[in-house]
Amino acid sequence: MIFNILTLFPEFFESPLKTGLMGKAAESGIIRVELIDIRDFSENKHRRCDDYPYGGGSGMVLTPAPVFKAIESVKKSNVPLLLTSPAGRVLDRDFIKEFSKKEEISIVCGNYEGVDQRVIDRYIDYEVSIGDYVLSGGEFAALVIVNALSRCLPGFMSNASSLDEESFEENLLEYPHYTRPREIEGMAVPEILLNGNHEKIRLWRETQSIEKTKRVRPDLYKKYIEKITGD
Ligand code: 6GU
Repeated sequence: MIFNILTLFPEFFESPLKTGLMGKAAESGIIRVELIDIRDFSENKHRRCDDYPYGGGSGMVLTPAPVFKAIESVKKSNVPLLLTSPAGRVLDRDFIKEFSKKEEISIVCGNYEGVDQRVIDRYIDYEVSIGDYVLSGGEFAALVIVNALSRCLPGFMSNASSLDEESFEENLLEYPHYTRPREIEGMAVPEILLNGNHEKIRLWRETQSIEKTKRVRPDLYKKYIEKITGD
């Protein structure tokens, strides 16, 4: 999958894209990330891309001219163009699943108080947020999106892990995990995980998942119940 990221801060992405599974995926060609520096398209001698908001108010606005040009430099039909914005639709699993089927996507990283609305009106297909809180720059969100999509791609995770997600009901949180040692500072691994009874272990994990979901994510638990009761 190809990601074109249009940003004021291309250096932001350097280390994360070299690290861990993302680095491996880039090396093996599962993903390719093209960083487009919006400032390269600024006509200002200081490469400035912000200006004061018409109508007044606090903060600056990402100026449209360099963004238009940066977008034109990557624009292709059939490649969806996303804008990261706290005013966007909040990303969820369905969106990630759907978009992971695309061969290529482009992401404009929103900055300052926001992007000039005319960028959105002319070019943007989807305005997306990663949650109901505000970040200091859209780069944080873009990285989250790239990672969430990448890990859906065949070959990114070990096979076992990607199947994992399918095997348990989609609307449940993960069960608790344990590894060696069997005991640490008086805290033991639950006995059931040590006895090799796979059916009992599966049931225990499922119960743990259900109980935890009910406790910490009543919204998800409701969806889980609705799905299994066919509502
Ligand atoms: Cl996409 N951008 C910013 N600046 N803040 C956010 C966000 C995006 N999603 C959640 N908060």
